[in-house]
Amino acid sequence: MLPFKIHHIGYLVKKIDAAIRDFAQLGYVVTQNTVFDSFRKIHICFMEKDGYVIELVSPADENSIVAGLLKKYKNTPYHICYETASFEKDFAYLTEHGFTAIDSPTPAPAIDGRRVVFLMSASIGMIELLEAF
Ligand code: NI
Repeated sequence: MLPFKIHHIGYLVKKIDAAIRDFAQLGYVVTQNTVFDSFRKIHICFMEKDGYVIELVSPADENSIVAGLLKKYKNTPYHICYETASFEKDFAYLTEHGFTAIDSPTPAPAIDGRRVVFLMSASIGMIELLEAF
């Protein structure tokens, strides 16, 4: 078993401000205001309720990395992010155990510039691996 901790659940939304408003109605509070990730062309914000952290992700334009996903799945949770202190090692482990990297590790401006990578499993879909401090 890998020494992972769940960091957040990624939630794809079409309109981030409207999504923040509706999650707030459910009792979520904004823990990080909306940030623009120019590399992925997305707007991101973090909210929390009862210890559960959600990451709202909204495409900034049609070239966004998530524009196609949003078209296909609409507003929906779409990944769980796992945080690890041994990023390289766990990334290698996952790729040797049925997970396929769908991008390469890049800094995430919305998460303190820490490296993240997305992987795909045929059985459970997309996950995100996040480097711990
Ligand atoms: Ni994420």
